[in-house]
Amino acid sequence: MAPADSSSDIVFFGVLGDLAQRKLLPAIYQLERAGLLPDDCRILGLARTALDDGGFRDICAASLQRFVPEAELDTACSARFLQRLSFLQLDFNDPAGFKALASRLDHKRHCIFYYATPASLYGPISQALAEANCLHERCRVVLEKPIGHDRPSSAEVNDQVAGFFDESQIYRIDHYLGKETVQNLIALRFANPIFSSQWNSRHISHVEITVAEKVGIEGRWGYFDDAGQLRDMVQNHLLQLLTLTAMDPPASLDADAVRDAKVALLKSLKPLEGALLNTHVVRGQYSAGEIDNQPVPGYLEEDGANTASRTESFVALKVEIDNPRWQDTPFFLRTGKRLPAKCSQIVVHFKPQPDALFAADPVAGDNRLIIRIQPNEGIALNLFSKHQGLDRDMALRNDPMQLNFAEAFGSRRIADAYERLLLEVIHGNQSLFVRRDEIEHAWQWCDRLLAHWQQQPNPPEPYPAGSWGPDSADKLIAEQGWSRHESE
Ligand code: BG6
Repeated sequence: MAPADSSSDIVFFGVLGDLAQRKLLPAIYQLERAGLLPDDCRILGLARTALDDGGFRDICAASLQRFVPEAELDTACSARFLQRLSFLQLDFNDPAGFKALASRLDHKRHCIFYYATPASLYGPISQALAEANCLHERCRVVLEKPIGHDRPSSAEVNDQVAGFFDESQIYRIDHYLGKETVQNLIALRFANPIFSSQWNSRHISHVEITVAEKVGIEGRWGYFDDAGQLRDMVQNHLLQLLTLTAMDPPASLDADAVRDAKVALLKSLKPLEGALLNTHVVRGQYSAGEIDNQPVPGYLEEDGANTASRTESFVALKVEIDNPRWQDTPFFLRTGKRLPAKCSQIVVHFKPQPDALFAADPVAGDNRLIIRIQPNEGIALNLFSKHQGLDRDMALRNDPMQLNFAEAFGSRRIADAYERLLLEVIHGNQSLFVRRDEIEHAWQWCDRLLAHWQQQPNPPEPYPAGSWGPDSADKLIAEQGWSRHESE
C-alpha cells in the first residue's frame, strides 16, 4: 500500500496515558517502519504535564523500547519517527491553551484529533477546539470506547460531538474491527460459496463466540468496577463479532453498506427481557484461583477493591436472532477475565448428517469451523475421515484442516489492530469504525440487562480464577444437548 498522499497532522489528547504510550505511538512507529506514513505527517502530543519536545520524545522513545518487540526496533526508523513528534502543554479547561494549539495547526492540512481521554471530555474538547477556531472540513476526530455507559449517556456524548463534527468526520474505535482475523470474517463468509450457501439455520445448529482473557483487571479497578464485563467487552467487541458473523450480505463493501447490514442484525436481536433474563444469562465474578499454576487473588481481593462489589468479570449469554436466516440457531457468547487462556474465537457448529450411516461411531459428530481471532490467528475445519490401515471396520477419526495465517503468509508480521485503524483514519476510510446508530442499538440491547442486574439482590456467581467460568455457563449450552468447544 502506498503512503497516504495528503499532508496530515495527528493531534493526540491524553498522549501520556497508557493507551497512547502502549498502543497508539507504537502503532504509528510501525506505520513509519512500513513506509505508510505521509512524508510530512506531524504528530502533536497534548497533556497537562509541563514538558518540552525533547522530554516528550524521551518518554516516547522509552515507550517504544518497552512496547515494540526488539527485533522490530530500528534506529534510523525510530529517529525518523521521533523527529515527527512535538508536544504542547494543554489544560483541557483552559481556552488559552487551545489558542496556542490553533497557532500550531494549518487549515490547509488534514488534521486528525485523537481523543484518548475519558468520554466525558469529548464534548468539552470539541467545543474548545471550535471556539479556538481549530476546526475545518479537513478535520477528523477519533473517539475511543467506551462512549457512555448506557444508551442515554452515549447519545449525549454523540450529540455533543455532533455539534462540531459531521458524522462523516467521526471515527469511533472498536479495536476488534482492526484485527486481521476479524476483517477476514467478511472475506471468509462472502468470498467462499461453500460457506455462504450454508450460513443459516438449515445448516448451522449453533455458534460459540468466546473472548477469554487470563489477565484480571490489571490495576484498573476504578474504571473496571464501574463498567463491568458487559459494558467493557460485550457491548462492543462481542457484539461486533456477532454482527459480522451473523449479518446478511451487505449490498457492497462500502462503509455504510456494511454498517447498514450490522445495524439490521442488531435490530433483530431478541431482547433480553422477562424469563430470558434468567434462562439466557450468566454473570460471574472470579474468586481466588490459579493461572499458569500461580496463585492469583479473587476480584474482591484485588488492590483497591471494594469488597462489597457486585460487578461482573464474566458474562455468558444465549443470544437468539429473530430473522429468517437464524431462526432456531442460538449464538452463545462468553467472555471473562481470569480464564485459563487468552483466546478469542468463533466456533460454527454445522448440523450433523440426517442419515445414520455412522451414528454408532463414537467419534461421529458435527463439523466445526473454528475461526481463531487470537492467538494463532487462522481457521480450522474439523473433518471426519477413516482411520488408516487394514482393519476392516470403518472407524472414524476427527482432525482439523488448518489454515494458520502466520505459516500461510510466511514471515510477514500480523499488524496490530491500532496500526490498521490509524492508517484507515489517515486515508479517510470509515468502514472499520462504528457508526452512531450501531453503538446506540448495541447499548439499547445491553441496557435491559444492566437495569435487571441493578435490581438483583444476588451477587454474580463466583468462579475460581483459572476456570472457564461458572458451571451454569456450560449448562446454557448443555441444555440443548451440546457441549462447549474445548479450546486447544
Ligand atoms: C479492551 C478492554 O477494550 O479490550 C480490556 O477494555 C480488554 O478490558 C481488552 O482487556 C482486550 O483486547 P485484546 O485485543 O487484548 O483482546
